[in-house]
Amino acid sequence: MAATDDHDTVRAIRWSGEALELLDQRELPARETTLTCADSAAVADAIAAMVVRGAPAIGITAAWGAVLAAREASDRTGWEAHLAHLEAARPTAVNLAWATARMRRVAGEEQPDPERLAAEAEAIHAEDVAANRRMGAIGAEYIQPGSGVLTHCNTGSLATGGFGTALGVIRTAHAAGRLRSIHAGETRPWLQGARLTAWELVADGIPVELIADGAAAFLMASGAVNWVIVGADRVAANGDVANKIGTYSLAVAARHHGVGLMVVAPRSTLDAATPSGADIPVEGRDPEELLACGGHRIAAEGAGAWNPVFDITPASLVDVLVTEAGAVERPDNEGIARILAAPASE
Ligand code: MRU
Repeated sequence: MAATDDHDTVRAIRWSGEALELLDQRELPARETTLTCADSAAVADAIAAMVVRGAPAIGITAAWGAVLAAREASDRTGWEAHLAHLEAARPTAVNLAWATARMRRVAGEEQPDPERLAAEAEAIHAEDVAANRRMGAIGAEYIQPGSGVLTHCNTGSLATGGFGTALGVIRTAHAAGRLRSIHAGETRPWLQGARLTAWELVADGIPVELIADGAAAFLMASGAVNWVIVGADRVAANGDVANKIGTYSLAVAARHHGVGLMVVAPRSTLDAATPSGADIPVEGRDPEELLACGGHRIAAEGAGAWNPVFDITPASLVDVLVTEAGAVERPDNEGIARILAAPASE
């Protein structure tokens, strides 16, 4: 696993050699507790319950779930059943199916070998950190000195193998002295911005100011924001972006105010098999997650709730998509295909 440093202090996923240890993100920032998953069903449950979340982190976690499954299953059919269970844990982030497909390729046609699969899971984790470092450098080049940025949800070390996607760009731009201000949307209903992004940035000594999600357009109107920088859960073949609910609203407001929208996502998040955003399955979660906050009911009894946890931002609203294989401005089918075909080090 890639080492941490001053600008990347957290690891959400650790392999003990016997079991998978997940930092329980439901408890942050109040408590730092670890949930140990000793079998693949426990890993699938942890993904579904949001113990671990964020597209790349879900993929890495599922890869380790496939390792545990190989220890449990008596044959290839049994292993496939465990993989199907892992893949069903959350539908929107394509990194999950990307990771299990990669584990299938390594397993070949035979009974899967846990040692070989463990080496692959390790590689997936290390490659993700390296991709994030590269995206940080590429994305930070777009940010002029003295810029203000606004981010959404949590895209940092907690959401990835380490360092982060959008938050990796922000970390890099901050380290280069380019940022005047960093704002983060609180990200109702799970509060990934307030609970997780703020926790990560404070831990790294990077100043951050939270806003209510509804304050974003007004913040842009004040002139405080030059770039909205977000991650992605899936980028369709035409460049449409599925990301945390609220991203589409930010994209519309950004375009209205002449603010740039940067989407930062590794190639494991690009899905050539999904033609457009309309084909991306958007996860709807329990309405209770919206009707309550911090375990306390806040809505009037009897009220219902619509709770999609992702939305689709049309490619036409994206100014630049940053990947580890390069950036594509105004992404479209041609740009996505070019990025997917490019060597990783381009
Ligand atoms: O529901 P979550 O917390 O898993 O949603 C996470 C996001 O939407 C992130 O923006 C996305 O996964 C990119 S993380 C690098």
